[in-house]
Amino acid sequence: MTKISLFLASLIFIVIYGCNKSDDITVTPSTTTTSLTYNDLWIPPTITGKSFDLTLAKSSKQLRSGAKTATYGYNGSEFWGPTLIMNKGDFIQMNVTNNLSETTTTHWHGFHIPAIMDGGPHQMIEPNSTWKPSFEIKNNAGTYWYHPHLHEKTFEQLTYGAGGLIIIKDPIESALALPRTYGTDDIPLVLTSRRYNSDNSFTTTEHAYGDYAMANGTHDAQISLPKQLVRFRILNAETERGYNLGFSDNRSFYVISNDGGLLDAPVSVTRVKLAVGERVEIVVDLSKDEVGSSLDMKAYNANQEFGFGGSEPQTTGQFGSLLNNKDFNVLHINVKGATSNAIVAVPTKLTTNTYWKESDATTVRTIKITGGQAGSAFTFDNNTYGFTTINQTVKLDAIEKWTIVNNNIFGHSFHIHDIQFKIVSRSSGAIANYESGWKDTFYIRTGETVSVVAKYDDFASSTNPFMYHCHFPNHEDAGLMGQFLVTQ
Ligand code: C2O
Ligand code: CU
Repeated sequence: MTKISLFLASLIFIVIYGCNKSDDITVTPSTTTTSLTYNDLWIPPTITGKSFDLTLAKSSKQLRSGAKTATYGYNGSEFWGPTLIMNKGDFIQMNVTNNLSETTTTHWHGFHIPAIMDGGPHQMIEPNSTWKPSFEIKNNAGTYWYHPHLHEKTFEQLTYGAGGLIIIKDPIESALALPRTYGTDDIPLVLTSRRYNSDNSFTTTEHAYGDYAMANGTHDAQISLPKQLVRFRILNAETERGYNLGFSDNRSFYVISNDGGLLDAPVSVTRVKLAVGERVEIVVDLSKDEVGSSLDMKAYNANQEFGFGGSEPQTTGQFGSLLNNKDFNVLHINVKGATSNAIVAVPTKLTTNTYWKESDATTVRTIKITGGQAGSAFTFDNNTYGFTTINQTVKLDAIEKWTIVNNNIFGHSFHIHDIQFKIVSRSSGAIANYESGWKDTFYIRTGETVSVVAKYDDFASSTNPFMYHCHFPNHEDAGLMGQFLVTQ
């Protein structure tokens, strides 16, 4: 799309939406693209084992000069929470305590577990109580995450910082010569942005974008990394913004894993797009960089197609941001000496996945993204989310093709609970090699139709539903969510 048509499309968008000024706040447009002072990237602590105690409570964090910002954190963190490390095949016990003064839930995003353990809107944790689900880890090694999923409160609780990463390990991944020393050559990277009120509190009235980028809750983040192969586990934890990630010298890097685990082989790219809720693991080679040199991981978000979250030109208001339609830094990297056990080559083969094909599907469902016109909420098939409504019923062990149709006014991020699927078609053209693996979330462009195939195995219930929804938490809260049962 040319700049002019992008501009026209944006004008149409503004006309359709009206110009909602309700959350306008006083912000000083400043150094969002160049910043010479950096803060050290916070690396979340880890919890490893079979029993995990999580406590969500209010916290605060010094995020900018002046007053501290009111936040939420798990286990005493100032924003976000510990990284949970678990092994495939283990039976694990979760003890989630809610020390907030409001209800929450904790969802294990990407996990293949019974619906009643899933932590969706139905598994409410009241204040001062503990929820204790237990389940077997059936997912492949990969990067997953936990976050609140209380209907109509997900956006706000996420905005305050409630969430955390989960790393699953398995024997296939462990046998590969990949960087895996957490915090040294295996770096968790949670990308989002925040907007501030003049008293330094986060803006929590509904808006699509923050004004200041953060990585692991750190603005203008920097890290020193060894001169060797380094892996990043990247999560897009935004509201609507997509990330078109790359490095400041345009070097190639490898995508090794999608939402649900390793790709068959590394995919070499110079850019990778990540929509809200998606994860990607990448490996970048720093072995030829000079000790003392630096480079940036950046969001190359200027001139994206209309419908890519953050492509809008405006800088303020509900759909504006100081970061919109710009390239901006997500992480400043300083190169230091190699470690003694440095990984020096990317394995050429990672694993052997057997994906579902379009022809394996015995049922085909079509779900349309509707609504969103003239201030109305987005819906699926013209139905807003209903807590007691079952929108789809799947037979246990069925292999199904779900076709999502977005003849609508903006792009979205579509997520299905319970299963990992294979993207089998995109009407806009080819499926990128870097999204050819197991997925639970994908970007759907404006005007696009995307089909995915999955097997709905292992867990059936005639009463407890799983969710499917747009992973933009503001859209999900407003009703762009449906429920499905998997029944015997
Ligand atoms: Cu990340 Cu329905 O969830
Ligand atoms: Cu959406």
